[in-house]
Amino acid sequence: MTPAAAIRSGRRTSHRKSAPKVAQSKLKIRDLRKTYGPVVALAGAGLDLSEGEFLTLLGPSGSGKTTMLMMIAGLTQPDSGEVWIDGKLATYAPAHRRDIGMVFQNYALFPHLTVFENIAFPLRMRRLPEADIAREVGRVLDVVRLPGVGDRLPRALSGGQQQRIALARCIVYRPSIVLMDEPLGALDKKLRDQMELEIKRLHQELGITVLYVTHDQEEAMIMSDRICLMNDARIEQIGSPADLYFRPLTVFAADFLGESNLFNALVEGETGAEIALRGPAGALIRVARDPERPAARGRPVKVMVRPEMLTLLADGALADNVLDARLTQVILVGGVTKYYARLADGTLVSATALTRGPVAGVTPDSPIRLGWSKASGVILAGAERPR
Ligand SMILES: Nc1ncnc2c1ncn2[C@@H]1O[C@H](COP(=O)(O)OP(=O)(O)OP(=O)(O)O)[C@@H](O)[C@H]1O
Ligand SMILES: [Mg+2]
Repeated sequence: MTPAAAIRSGRRTSHRKSAPKVAQSKLKIRDLRKTYGPVVALAGAGLDLSEGEFLTLLGPSGSGKTTMLMMIAGLTQPDSGEVWIDGKLATYAPAHRRDIGMVFQNYALFPHLTVFENIAFPLRMRRLPEADIAREVGRVLDVVRLPGVGDRLPRALSGGQQQRIALARCIVYRPSIVLMDEPLGALDKKLRDQMELEIKRLHQELGITVLYVTHDQEEAMIMSDRICLMNDARIEQIGSPADLYFRPLTVFAADFLGESNLFNALVEGETGAEIALRGPAGALIRVARDPERPAARGRPVKVMVRPEMLTLLADGALADNVLDARLTQVILVGGVTKYYARLADGTLVSATALTRGPVAGVTPDSPIRLGWSKASGVILAGAERPR
């Protein structure tokens, strides 16, 4: 048995077999709210995590991510709302009764204790026999791929290795939910890339439920089953990485994840399966109709088109949507080339294409035509939040 499989098989599989129930959430929060004097840190958030899910709280600094995590862990008391763990109300349960593990940004290892003793700590707190402790510590050191460092002090390890020990200490007592608050924030880019994959592997092999926090959109996209986007103490949107990228609901969501063109437009009408809008520089914009995004005639909206969905059209080529523009800049980034252009009214447009060799035939200020399909435009509800 692999170390990971051994840990998995040791997990409490519960009594559910004899009493089958409707699948319940592993973790559920309802209308959770926290204020600090006049500051609203979290303004009534609701969330459901299923068993084995990897969900990431993504959002700018101060949007309430840590506040939510601390209330779930039982380290901060909410003003109101509920926290449910494994179907039990746990809003005011003490932290040590919650079966939750936490990993923070700065390792938080005890500097004067060896790696072995650091990892053994939560097991000693739980009064496990010495022989069991030795076995379990050895096992998690294998899981995080650091066998043989048990005798070292934390300072004799690299940053990435210390973070793996922090992870080992968190999973050694088999918590059913692991909360991680920017665990890779202190690491350099290369180490972070490695650790992202490492944590993903651990999540898959151990089958743990993870609630992860980051303000790095790429990290969130790479690691998560679902992303919960936070903005100003509220949940902006919850969905799969693809949902958030291709179907953002708001300007904030479109802006926070990836690059986007956001065209001001006015709804002119619906014809069958498409919506017609008047866009910048008087251009006609056609967007495939989406029943979830009603667009009333005369209403000002934003139409989002990702730069990679725009193509430079050859002379005479057709597309659902065409913009006449003047090229302002061509930037070879490496694998992709970015084109920046201006419409007649000054609106800036960006298009990204895979690099197919040195760019020929396009010089700054030359007229170009940019096209995209009506399926790749998304109507957003201006700057307001759909409720
Ligand atoms: N103990 C506290 N006392 C007063 N205000 C607080 C306290 N903790 C958090 N806040 C405020 O609550 C808001 C949310 O903070 P929180 O730490 O949850 O943000 P965050 O999303 O984790 O940000 P970051 O990405 O910077 O870690 C912020 O405006 C913050 O200043
Ligand atoms: Mg934080």
